[in-house]
Amino acid sequence: MRHELICSEPATPARLTLRSAPLPQPGSGEVLVRVQASSVNPIDVKRAAGYGRRLLGLKGAARFPLALGNDVAGLVVAVGADVTGIAAGQRVFGLLPTGRAGGAHATHVLVSEQLLRVAPEEADPAALAVLPYSFTTMWLALRSAGLKAANARGARVLVHGASGGLGSLALQQLRLWGSQVTAICAKGRREEARALGAQLTVERGPLAIASLPSDFDVVLNFANWDDDDVLASRLGPQALGQATTVHPLLANFDRLGWLGGMLATRRDRRCVQAAVVARAPRARYSWTLFKPDRAALDALALGVNLGRFRLPVGLAVPLTEAHAAFAHVAAGLSGRAVLLP
Ligand SMILES: NC(=O)c1ccc[n+]([C@@H]2O[C@H](COP(=O)([O-])OP(=O)(O)OC[C@H]3O[C@@H](n4cnc5c(N)ncnc54)[C@H](OP(=O)(O)O)[C@@H]3O)[C@@H](O)[C@H]2O)c1
Repeated sequence: MRHELICSEPATPARLTLRSAPLPQPGSGEVLVRVQASSVNPIDVKRAAGYGRRLLGLKGAARFPLALGNDVAGLVVAVGADVTGIAAGQRVFGLLPTGRAGGAHATHVLVSEQLLRVAPEEADPAALAVLPYSFTTMWLALRSAGLKAANARGARVLVHGASGGLGSLALQQLRLWGSQVTAICAKGRREEARALGAQLTVERGPLAIASLPSDFDVVLNFANWDDDDVLASRLGPQALGQATTVHPLLANFDRLGWLGGMLATRRDRRCVQAAVVARAPRARYSWTLFKPDRAALDALALGVNLGRFRLPVGLAVPLTEAHAAFAHVAAGLSGRAVLLP
């Protein structure tokens, strides 16, 4: 049997329950994975409360009862036709897209072979399960801001939200690429950011951003949409770009409906875009949205094999105690929360 965690209706705190069904058979290109660990990300807690119901609803990903979870680490039980790179018994980790097929908060999941990577034998499943979704989103943000291995060495990069999951993975990636990173950190977290490779750190506060120099090549906002325009004022004239993961796209449509959401989104985007272009005419401005990305997974798998990427796990609980993991994330407690089915 397969046991799956579901949110029965939109609520805060999340209304969670378990349901059971026979084990599914993997179709062509699919892999059946026995889940050893799956993480609870901030987006899961928001979606459990109904966040994103309009836009994610277009993908069938907002209908309650809702199965959540994008990250998976586990053991291959069976493979479908046309699966060539992965075999039963192997340890794997990877991603489920946000869609109608359900989530990874379950004992077993079907995953596309293309979104799985073989895990190192000795790797802890919980440590692996906290990485794919956050790393992929961080990677997409770097790329959409114009940063890649070929141009990152010496680039001046400002990371807002450097103490969070995306922020700390960005510090780890940018250290590998040789960028010069300034990290805006949560209170008392500057030392950690330095240890992850930030050259300069500032604690967040009302004047923290405005006090920084305005010569950054890239700005990454993983913290607060309200800071997006003042962050743009820190770009240098030759800047490559700015990317934010904390844009109001989904919230605008939830709050204002289709027309109101579209108008508000256009206004919000244009406002910061204008601030970016005023500082740096050739800079890109991007609102990052998570989606599985095979290049990101390849970079992650390489880094994992070399022991280069990690996020601390703050809580690991069985599926039956999932409410504690959701509460951990909702409260913003330190370390990622992991479910161990
Ligand atoms: N668009 C997408 O597809 C996508 C995908 C993944 C994540 N996200 C979003 O991106 C953000 C970062 O993700 P994450 O996993 O890194 O989250 P996280 O681990 O919770 O980290 C968020 C960081 O931002 C800081 N922060 C929160 N509110 C802030 C504020 N008002 N002003 C300044 N700093 C603030 C937090 O500091 P404290 O610890 O002090 O609160 C923390 O360091 C989250 O909001 C997440 O929902 C979006």
